[in-house]
Amino acid sequence: MVASRSLPSLLILPVLAFLSLSARASLRPLTSSGTATLQLGVKISSAGIKNVAAADRARAQALLQDSGSSSISATNAVVIYTAEVGVGSPPAYYTLLVDTGSSNTWIGANKPYGKTNTSQDTGNSFYIAYGSSSDSTSASGEEYLDTVTFSPDLVIEKQSIGVATSTNMSGDGLDGILGVGPVDLTQRTISNGKEVPTVVDNLYAQKRIDSEVLGVFFSPVFTGDIGGELTFGGYDASKIIGDINYVPITSTSPASRYWGVDQSINYGATSILKKTAGIVDTGTTFILIATDAFNKYQSETGATLDATTGLLKVSLEQYNELSSLYFEIGGVTYELTPNAQIWPRLLNSAIGGTPDGIYLVVSDLGSNSGSGFDFVNGYCFLERFYSVFDTTNSRVGFAETAYTNTTSN
Ligand SMILES: *[C@@H]1O[C@H](CO)[C@@H](O)[C@H](O)[C@H]1NC(C)=O
Ligand SMILES: *[C@@H]1O[C@H](CO)[C@@H](O)[C@H](O)[C@H]1NC(C)=O
Ligand SMILES: *[C@@H]1O[C@H](CO)[C@@H](O)[C@H](O)[C@H]1NC(C)=O
Repeated sequence: MVASRSLPSLLILPVLAFLSLSARASLRPLTSSGTATLQLGVKISSAGIKNVAAADRARAQALLQDSGSSSISATNAVVIYTAEVGVGSPPAYYTLLVDTGSSNTWIGANKPYGKTNTSQDTGNSFYIAYGSSSDSTSASGEEYLDTVTFSPDLVIEKQSIGVATSTNMSGDGLDGILGVGPVDLTQRTISNGKEVPTVVDNLYAQKRIDSEVLGVFFSPVFTGDIGGELTFGGYDASKIIGDINYVPITSTSPASRYWGVDQSINYGATSILKKTAGIVDTGTTFILIATDAFNKYQSETGATLDATTGLLKVSLEQYNELSSLYFEIGGVTYELTPNAQIWPRLLNSAIGGTPDGIYLVVSDLGSNSGSGFDFVNGYCFLERFYSVFDTTNSRVGFAETAYTNTTSN
């Protein structure tokens, strides 16, 4: 007998077309442990996102092929995290998209840069093409060094900032990108050909934090806990349940170029992806797995591919029979519950779905396993598990949170 699992009832949300749950950035003071936490706003955009599954896939394929572009924009993601970042002295504040999948910080897409006495034109130009497809984003302009302020307590001097004079990053009041990915992703972005230290590199070099570590917390939407937070220099112990479990960055290329880890995936007791390398990425909406693994998942769940959203869709009966997905990373198993495998139905319209459709967030990577880049644990994974990106020790960590097992979807 299968216990029936009920879905939470649907609330009616008046305006779903564009929901901006922006919280003004605030920062808790540096603690004795040398960490500081930046609260993030969240934007949920639907406008212009036709096929999020395809956008995710394009990003993954571009990262996999390392097709000469520095990184792929997270601007196609449905759920976007933002931070209010000050530039200059006195600081002017810009709303920046927070992206662990790219590493340059640039402004100017919306609000113009006003030079102050801390602005230093480096004489270099910058150019970032986020991907190679026709719907990708690019930005170019002049490189400056300037003071960057997260809070009065957390200020970076002489941070490389791209000031865009030309960009097609679209709307939503975004002024640019705060890139908190690995520094080597800044190669080929500045005209002098050199890497540029990221904000996290500089926080560490300028001794604002004790270790070069970034803790990322995302709360699932509609849990009542709006937004997320970035912790520089460590993690926020108040957001995790149990311990952080660390795993070294994978040695398998090309995943090793990003926040890559080795992982295997079981659906219930059935193996769908043997231990292999892939990446953890905040700029991807769904959880992407290699095509052969995806086909096994589809056949195990009985789901059908929905042409409109590009996602797998299940009936209520099939939902009630779903098993958990078990992600084994570094000897620790992370359970993604059936409810965590479905897209929040209140956001169905944002992905072009029908209001009562049940869509699965496990999507096709677009190539078979064995490439050295066989999965992407995106936002739908990271809202269930706290993640820690540790440059100092070349490792990634995960922990359970209060939302690991919630049934908010
Ligand atoms: C820059 O100007 C501001 C006032 O606009 C002043 O408070 C600050 O000390 C100046 N900084 C430098 C480095 O001169
Ligand atoms: C943005 O600009 C780049 C480079 O010019 C171009 O390849 C891309 O197609 C443009 N994207 C959109 C959505 O227009
Ligand atoms: C989530 O559920 C699993 C399985 O019941 C349990 O082992 C785990 O402790 C739970 N985690 C949290 C944070 O509640």
